[in-house]
Amino acid sequence: MSRLHRNAGRGVGLMIFVALAACQGHGGAPAENPTRRALAAVDAARLTAADSEPGSWMSYGRTYSEQRYSPLARVNDKTVADLGLAWSHDFGTERGIEATSIVVDGVMYATSAWSIVHALDARTGKPLWRYDPGVAKAKAKHTCCDVVNRGVAVWEGQVFLGALDGRLIALDAATGAVNWEVATVDAALPYTITGAPRVIRGKVLIGNGGAEFGVRGFLSAYDAKTGKLVWRFYTVPGDPALGFENQAMAMAAKTWNGTWWELGGGGGTVWDAMAHDPELDLLYIGVGNGTPWNREIRSPGGGDNLFLSSIVALRPDTGEYVWHYQTTPGETWDYTATQHIILADLELDGKPRKVLMQAPKNGFFYVLDRTDGTLLSAENYIGVTWATHVDLKTGRPVEVPGARYEDKPFLVVPSYLGGHNWHPMSFNPDTGLVYIPVLDFGANYAQPENFRYRPGISNVGTHGILGSLPDSQAERNALRPLIKGRLVAWDPKTQKEAWRVEHKGSWNGGTLTTAGNLVFQGTADGSFVAYSADEGKPLWSFPAQTGIVAPPITYEIDGEQYVSLNVGWGGAFALVFGEFVQAKSLPNVSRVLTFKLGARGELPAVDWKPAVHFSPPQQTASAETLQKGFAEYSDVCMGCHGLNAVSGLLIPDLRGSGFLHDQAAWDSVVRDGALRDRGMAAFGDQVSPEESRAIRAYVIQQAWRAVDLQKNAEVAP
Ligand code: HEC
Repeated sequence: MSRLHRNAGRGVGLMIFVALAACQGHGGAPAENPTRRALAAVDAARLTAADSEPGSWMSYGRTYSEQRYSPLARVNDKTVADLGLAWSHDFGTERGIEATSIVVDGVMYATSAWSIVHALDARTGKPLWRYDPGVAKAKAKHTCCDVVNRGVAVWEGQVFLGALDGRLIALDAATGAVNWEVATVDAALPYTITGAPRVIRGKVLIGNGGAEFGVRGFLSAYDAKTGKLVWRFYTVPGDPALGFENQAMAMAAKTWNGTWWELGGGGGTVWDAMAHDPELDLLYIGVGNGTPWNREIRSPGGGDNLFLSSIVALRPDTGEYVWHYQTTPGETWDYTATQHIILADLELDGKPRKVLMQAPKNGFFYVLDRTDGTLLSAENYIGVTWATHVDLKTGRPVEVPGARYEDKPFLVVPSYLGGHNWHPMSFNPDTGLVYIPVLDFGANYAQPENFRYRPGISNVGTHGILGSLPDSQAERNALRPLIKGRLVAWDPKTQKEAWRVEHKGSWNGGTLTTAGNLVFQGTADGSFVAYSADEGKPLWSFPAQTGIVAPPITYEIDGEQYVSLNVGWGGAFALVFGEFVQAKSLPNVSRVLTFKLGARGELPAVDWKPAVHFSPPQQTASAETLQKGFAEYSDVCMGCHGLNAVSGLLIPDLRGSGFLHDQAAWDSVVRDGALRDRGMAAFGDQVSPEESRAIRAYVIQQAWRAVDLQKNAEVAP
């Protein structure tokens, strides 16, 4: 049973922790007590000049340009073979790990699942303090894509955390004590925060997520000293009858139809990317998808629906709108433009240009003039089926007829997970290449049978086929090779691929590139790899024992260069695509791994088998009930428990659940929330007793399917 298997997993985690505690201090001489120095003493001067301080990693993308390029070169294509594990630190949390750590003044600030901050001695990994904001586990109900956090920001002695439940919290960098905290969202609404804050001139910028569920997106700026709200920029218009906050909203409202504000608020959350150009005095933000995804429902009759799927430039001091570029007008596929934004100076057609680059979910790589948002070029970085190209005159994609699935289903590539998701890319000014963690697969979209907006759960407004796999195992096996992932080196000047490395899995880590002619990336199947940046030659790898999705960083202390990475499997693909998850054969271990030249640390061996046993009760439900159960499961449960009830093993596989044997026990979990403190919220408000019975019947059906397949040895147990 899954419960037993999970407890077994926890035992292993504990053993690892004990074993590692015994080998702490790998880093040589004990570090000077970092609390004696001023910590996280980061200010505008220091952050703007981050390139002259390459030993630190002071903000999410290292510099305001978010290039994730490090000038450090002690570890390089000639020496990297000698890279070894210097220290590791177990987070002790069990869900997805996506964070970029900050390293400054000798201290690393890492975050793990459930928005927990870990301050560690960056040289030795010695824990200095740990801060748990105590997010109520039932809040997981409002997460589309795991209870992850992508990192903190630091400024003048404080560490800023956006907690999953929407709070922005300022911590004392030396002690982890709370200086102030504010609710950045209406706690009654399904907002979440997973993204890292940024700080510009004493203002802490924070967005939010929740557009699958139904919220109105915005970005806020808070005074770093006091926590006072300075400004807020909404990304989509509210109910016009209530008036608009500013001219930008009045302009945006002209591109919407219907009563979108009654369907949750339109969406457009700013859940990840931001970049800043201090010279131009602009802040760039990436805006997400609509609520629901399906424009036909969201804005009947069409419209571009600004500022969904757009890059918007704002004044960082006031939040005033300056310009926007919309990557996917009238988005209807969950094509967010929240993906990583990189600023660089490129020579194009013999002229130096200040550009902004993004590879959003929709499959095109965009190069914009960041002074005014003019589109300079756009080419697809994977094969796309929804548009033929981007017209440079109009700046708009030329759509393929039928791609909006108005009348019949359409196989859309990229899928709702994008050709590239939140996993940061990096830009190396020496090679001129951008290193993109690419996802390459499609999804079938269709109009829903009868959509109704349901508060508090996912409201994507597409047919249940999005949430399903074929019944036949042969067909599922045939899908497997179509679900691809790779590392792509992209030349933004020529808009062409320079080289690629195909991966076994599709949901791989973000990238780091360095002046040592290196690109680092972790993979779904648990390898941390260094490639040559110019040619993509694999030069070094380390078996991390667990799936990797987070991006690496590098820093230097006392002349020693370190490369560090947070490992641990998780995020949307890990939860939803259980059938195709490579990391299933690995345990999920959440930890920091830090490397340096000449180190020879080892991880303790793990003995782990992903055993799920199925012993479902008799099936007694009618075909009609099963159909209903399937639809309901896809709407409400699939996002966490996986397509067709096949779990990625981060969350229990319902087909092996003992609760299948008893409707009352099942309801105590599903409707009443008996496991709410473990991340399984109560769904009684959304799922009626009858619907709950139908879902259980559907899961029983899927469990019997697995039993039959195991008998016929078509799937590994
Ligand atoms: C936001 C994520 C999420 C969603 C959505 C979700 N679950 Fe869960 N569920 C969990 C987590 C996490 C657990 C594991 C809790 C634990 O560790 O005990 C769980 C556990 C369960 C269990 C107990 C399994 C066992 O044997 O331990 C059942 C039954 C269950 N969920 C049913 C459902 C059903 C039915 C739905 C849809 C109506 C649903 N869940 C939706 C996250 C989710």
